[in-house]
Amino acid sequence: MTYYLPQSIILLSLILSTLTISTIAQSKPRSLILPLTKDRATNQILTRIEIGTPRVSRNFIVDIAGRQLWLDCYSGYSNSSSTYRLARCGSAACSVGKADCPGPCLLPPRPGCFNNTCVVLTRNPIRTTAGISPLSLDTVSLHSTSTSGARGGPRVSIPNFIFACEDEFQLDNLAAGVEGALGLSSERIGLPSQISTAFGGSLRREFALCLPSDPNSDGVLFLGAAPYVIANRVDYSTRFRYTRLVKNYERTASPNVPGAEIPAYFVRITSILVSESPIPINSSLLEFRRTGIGGSAISTVDPYTILDSSIYRSLVSAFERSGAMGNVSKAAAVAPFGNCYEKKDLSIGRMGLEVPKISLVFESREVKWDLFGENSMVDVNDDVACLGFVDGGSDTTSSIVVGAHQMQDNLVHFDLHSSRMGFTNSLLLEGVRCSLFHI
Ligand SMILES: *[C@@H]1O[C@H](CO)[C@@H](O)[C@H](O)[C@H]1NC(C)=O
Ligand SMILES: *[C@@H]1O[C@H](CO)[C@@H](O)[C@H](O)[C@H]1NC(C)=O
Ligand SMILES: *[C@@H]1O[C@H](CO)[C@@H](O)[C@H](O)[C@H]1NC(C)=O
Ligand SMILES: *[C@@H]1O[C@H](CO)[C@@H](O)[C@H](O)[C@H]1NC(C)=O
Repeated sequence: MTYYLPQSIILLSLILSTLTISTIAQSKPRSLILPLTKDRATNQILTRIEIGTPRVSRNFIVDIAGRQLWLDCYSGYSNSSSTYRLARCGSAACSVGKADCPGPCLLPPRPGCFNNTCVVLTRNPIRTTAGISPLSLDTVSLHSTSTSGARGGPRVSIPNFIFACEDEFQLDNLAAGVEGALGLSSERIGLPSQISTAFGGSLRREFALCLPSDPNSDGVLFLGAAPYVIANRVDYSTRFRYTRLVKNYERTASPNVPGAEIPAYFVRITSILVSESPIPINSSLLEFRRTGIGGSAISTVDPYTILDSSIYRSLVSAFERSGAMGNVSKAAAVAPFGNCYEKKDLSIGRMGLEVPKISLVFESREVKWDLFGENSMVDVNDDVACLGFVDGGSDTTSSIVVGAHQMQDNLVHFDLHSSRMGFTNSLLLEGVRCSLFHI
């Protein structure tokens, strides 16, 4: 018997240390995930995050260019969560949020009137209206990713998550049921940086979007490093082609003085191809000509890619002259699109309607994002499909804003450490859709 005693003690301590390790492993996940839903009525990309104590799931529009998360605090949330509190002037939260401390609020007591609380600017990404809102803290809860990366793992809680408190007026034009916006900017208060900090940096400052094409089934947002496994198959991060992210600054009165860095993701598109041939583009539009003007940006709130007028016209002209498009009957335009076609003249393949391929070219011809019918065309009714790009007029700030329709069923990676964006090209080429990830 005495022989067995030390052994069982060793065994017990082994079990205990394994338990400790697995607890630590769970509290320091490699990556987290959020569902991405396409709202049927507005095409806005939405997600759900559990916030507060008790935890309540709330809907947010996903704004990749948003600085931080903001929430309508005064329609019930702020006095229903026992862990909600305001960020006091001088606290670490105010410094992370680069938040200002205004003077005392001399108005009669009302929501949003506080003393000794720091404030930040928020933005309604659809109306592009700004608000000034107190910074707040509460616990948020997200799913971790399973070890294999192929599905959702246990939930993890992040206490003291910093966000801005808005009111219901800032929700104008957002999809029904939405209570705020989730900002994915690279700033310290952006979700990617805050969760990385919360887990001591074991979760890397990077994320990948897999936008769904179907309003009935969710896509996925991976927060943290690969593997990004969809449909239990491959780690699609092995497919990424990378382009550098470009810093861009607010316009100021002087052309030579840059303003604050814009918290959006900018890239350098160098040409657009239709069936592998470059279309004519005034190249100065593709340059970041002066602070805030020119170049290309990525957006999750614009449902379709917006092009400067001259680029749009050049694209349509090359598209209609390419391949068999000359034989396809035009249909009346359906807003917001300017060029629509009879579907009976087009065939359908596994990549959607069979139309000339449109490609966005970055640093070199190898770094090329191919758009097939599924991403270039939009069905507006049973008989008509439109070229899914929008003419943004001739006074655009960014000359090209890549929108959600063009990104759907692709995996798009934002690596904030290396300041680069990766993309896979359509997952349909491999018979996979973003909605095949099961959380
Ligand atoms: C929350 O507080 C406001 C005033 O501070 C009050 O009018 C409202 O009824 C409260 N809501 C709930 C759900 O308690
Ligand atoms: C803020 O402080 C001022 C005095 O400095 C006071 O008159 C006011 O009532 C306070 N407001 C709130 C909301 O506490
Ligand atoms: C090209 O675009 C720039 C910037 O909008 C403009 O100043 C210039 O006149 C354009 N060049 C041509 C040839 O249209
Ligand atoms: C267009 O249709 C005509 C008549 O059917 C055919 O001869 C021609 O090859 C077609 N053109 C293309 C580019 O498919």
